[in-house]
Amino acid sequence: MKICFIGTGYVGLVSGACFADLGNNVLCVDNNKEKIDSLNNGHVPFFEPELQELVIKNYSSGRLKFTTDLSKAVKESDIIFICVGTPTSKKSRSANLQYVFAVISQVSKYISKFKIIVTKSTVPITTGDKIERLILRKKRRKLFEVVSNPEFLREGEAIRDFRFPDRIVVGTNNKKVIRKLQSLYEPLIKRGAQFFVTSRRGAELIKYASNAFLATKISYINEIANLCEKTDVNVEDISIGMGLDQRIGGRFLRAGPAYGGSCFPKDTKALTVTGDFFKTDLSIVKSVIRSNEKRKSLLMQRVQKILSNKIKNKRIAFLGVTFKPNTDDMRESLSPSMISYLTKRKAKISYYDPSGEKIDLSKISNVTYCNNLKDACKNVDLVIIHTEWEEFKALDFNKLCKPNKFKIFDMRNLYSHKLMKQKGFHYYSIGR
Ligand SMILES: NC(=O)c1ccc[n+]([C@@H]2O[C@H](COP(=O)([O-])OP(=O)(O)OC[C@H]3O[C@@H](n4cnc5c(N)ncnc54)[C@H](O)[C@@H]3O)[C@@H](O)[C@H]2O)c1
Repeated sequence: MKICFIGTGYVGLVSGACFADLGNNVLCVDNNKEKIDSLNNGHVPFFEPELQELVIKNYSSGRLKFTTDLSKAVKESDIIFICVGTPTSKKSRSANLQYVFAVISQVSKYISKFKIIVTKSTVPITTGDKIERLILRKKRRKLFEVVSNPEFLREGEAIRDFRFPDRIVVGTNNKKVIRKLQSLYEPLIKRGAQFFVTSRRGAELIKYASNAFLATKISYINEIANLCEKTDVNVEDISIGMGLDQRIGGRFLRAGPAYGGSCFPKDTKALTVTGDFFKTDLSIVKSVIRSNEKRKSLLMQRVQKILSNKIKNKRIAFLGVTFKPNTDDMRESLSPSMISYLTKRKAKISYYDPSGEKIDLSKISNVTYCNNLKDACKNVDLVIIHTEWEEFKALDFNKLCKPNKFKIFDMRNLYSHKLMKQKGFHYYSIGR
């Protein structure tokens, strides 16, 4: 099929490359010329495992192309996927839809024969209705169909998630469009993905309800971890014990820092705004947001306590700064606020992250990026394991941090509490 993705970010590029790999002709569009130039030169401008190879393979075959020319993409494609960002608005907690509507206003100019317009961006319930009304100002009803097809991939595992999704949710009641999308997704359905068709509004809400539910699970186990710390119980036992109940399931029950990333924080906030708009108090989601905010300050106080309230001139190494491993995405990661908190109190920070140096952190004084673990950990008073990258899972801390008397705060519970204590480390973790 001939399809295009407008917005060539984490979602647009991964989906574009993967659909091209399935044999479709794909045009990826972005208004960021630098990004498109970089892709046309064979370089993926962000880190996602296997993506670089997949892009090069499909670009070379001619099935995957990159352009800033939106009119060409619309004219040449039967299905147009909208994949632009929907961040939190600057002035409120709602989703900022300016990028979506800007794209729609452009797209509607160039429609001259039937197009399926699919929102993959996460958009609040009724956005599809608004998009439809906007296009109707310029084009006749029979020239287009607006469909919701929310994306569920996770950064760091995006390609695997695309290839083996649990479900593909399609929101439309147009039978012809359902058949077309079903045939586009056929290779994934054959591998076992559920193809679930619902109303457009239903699909929009499924995405928010799912993300808010996962955020709730994380916050829940984080609060239980707080209780474990006070009662000498290991939160990992609780997670296992709970997860063995198939009604609960073990995933997303790992205690750690506050949830972050480009989706959960903004989507939980936007969902409560939608709830308020429709005069529905989503009190559970609201309290999850509060709990997550509280967790950030709780962890900062914890670091302060580990350092016996003496932060001034302490040398602290951060291992990992991204919100999760296998991505370079810093959106809503805990590390910048934690590092600012510590440097304001005159700590000296070094950090190492396998995905490289971060602009967000270069603006903070007394923060040094090290391109290897050894330099980051040399002579430090405290090591904070912030992100669970593979390479942090079996470290020889004595060699890394010598000769100081250092402490370790493992916010990801990567090491056995018992073993670390036996080895004589000053080791602190979460909920244990
Ligand atoms: N990142 C994820 O893990 C993930 C997962 C599921 C769903 N989503 C949702 O998908 C959407 C996109 O997220 P993302 O992380 O890929 O965002 P992103 O910021 O990585 O990419 C968005 C891209 O859109 C481009 N863009 C903005 N305005 C444009 C315009 N007028 N014309 C062409 N391009 C334009 C930007 O330059 C950018 O490259 C969001 O709604 C997000 O909530 C994201």
